[in-house]
Amino acid sequence: MIKLTDNYKIEESIIYIIESKDQLNKLQLNNDEKEYALKRLENEKDFVFINSFFKFNFIIVVKKEKDINKIKEDLRKQSDKIIKIIDEEKIEKINILEISQNNYDLVLAEALALNCYDFAKYLNDADKKKHFLKEIKVISTNVNEDKTLKLNALIEGVYQARDIINEPASYMTAKKLSETIVELGKKYGFKTEVLDKGKIESLKMGGILAVNRGSIEPPTFSIMEYIPENSINEKPIVLVGKGLVFDTGGINLKPSGFIETMKSDKSGAAAVIGLFCAVAMAKLPLKLIGLIPATDNRPGNNAYVPQDIITMFDGTTVEVLNTDAEGRLILADALAYAKKYSPELVIDIATLTGAAIVAVGEKVSAIMGNAKNEIKTFYNIGLEQWERVIEFPLWDDYKELIKSDVADLKNVGPRWGGAITAAKFLEHFTDYPWIHLDIAGPAYSESRDSYRGIGGTGFGVRLIFNFLLNRI
Ligand code: BES
Ligand code: ZN
Ligand code: ZN
Repeated sequence: MIKLTDNYKIEESIIYIIESKDQLNKLQLNNDEKEYALKRLENEKDFVFINSFFKFNFIIVVKKEKDINKIKEDLRKQSDKIIKIIDEEKIEKINILEISQNNYDLVLAEALALNCYDFAKYLNDADKKKHFLKEIKVISTNVNEDKTLKLNALIEGVYQARDIINEPASYMTAKKLSETIVELGKKYGFKTEVLDKGKIESLKMGGILAVNRGSIEPPTFSIMEYIPENSINEKPIVLVGKGLVFDTGGINLKPSGFIETMKSDKSGAAAVIGLFCAVAMAKLPLKLIGLIPATDNRPGNNAYVPQDIITMFDGTTVEVLNTDAEGRLILADALAYAKKYSPELVIDIATLTGAAIVAVGEKVSAIMGNAKNEIKTFYNIGLEQWERVIEFPLWDDYKELIKSDVADLKNVGPRWGGAITAAKFLEHFTDYPWIHLDIAGPAYSESRDSYRGIGGTGFGVRLIFNFLLNRI
């Protein structure tokens, strides 16, 4: 969708990115248009739209700010106004020209592309597609083809992740999720092995099986492999995504107000899957393994109940005290399974706790783990991409809070510090460099949130993709 060009047709619509009014002279505008733009900008406006009959000119003045990350995010948000006009006018092609070449052009191009996402599959009316933009041309001699290829791959990854999150449980069962992964693997170039219920039973993945007991749909455990010949890492990076296709809470049923968004409880899985699509499409030279434990969590005749004691894949026994703390149970089996790869790094990503949202709000992810340098990198990349993460502590006294009298661990701690005790639970099943992302807040947006859209945001795909780029 995003293309690179060094020339453009004067009759096509264009977005100019300038740093100050002085740069207006450098734009392909006639005198009337320039005068109009100047006037508009005098009232401290940072956005001008000129309808020049057969084409549209947009002018964005980037904010003068010390914080370059804030400048970029403000620019991304400007895509809202542009998309609105583009949609009204049903424009299919747009050019972007940045006068001072600071690579803001690609930042805006990315946001425009992300802003065009639709989940229209279930709409009947003919006009269901709101967005028409097909091609964004970046006019630059500063940007190379490699950058646009990667950006296009990343955007596709985010789209795929959003599609997966937005599918309701009526369609996206655990089985369907694994089939979707297989299909995407064929399309983008990664391998998938799906462990079915029988295999999960023979492996004694007690966490996944316990959560699945209330469901009539079988669980799946999907293993994705992306192993390019030119990979620079000897040991793989393993990504683990929580694939709770719907979280009712189980016997500890969620009340109204908390249950309505729970198709999003597979957002961690969606992020990992989207990431694999992006990485494979961009052909990054990195060995990656993806693990997706998947099931729904429901009350049912045979559902697991509080005080059950279950035995996990690695033999750890767990006293279940709340069936709504199910994510850590399926992730624990996957994290223990990850040991067999002697991984360079394991990153798990999950809509794990409401407590993470209470702590930092809906826009930010909690990050924890023992890979301290990588956590710093994540923090910085989070600011650059505006998929922000903030570290919570993993001090050992929190471990006391999930000790059980009757089993090795219990699956919930006390009310306070819930995001940390959940991570402490996961930590028990790791023995390698590890990072945990609790994306319960930013994974899903109930109202439209600029280029993040409405519904599944795909949070984590841009963050981890850029983290991986940074490692190459
Ligand atoms: N999937 C939820 C966490 C969640 C909450 C995600 C809100 C997105 C938005 C998770 O399985 C859960 O229910 N966690 C409980 C844990 C508690 C029972 C210890 C929670 O956070 O309330
Ligand atoms: Zn839950
Ligand atoms: Zn959950």
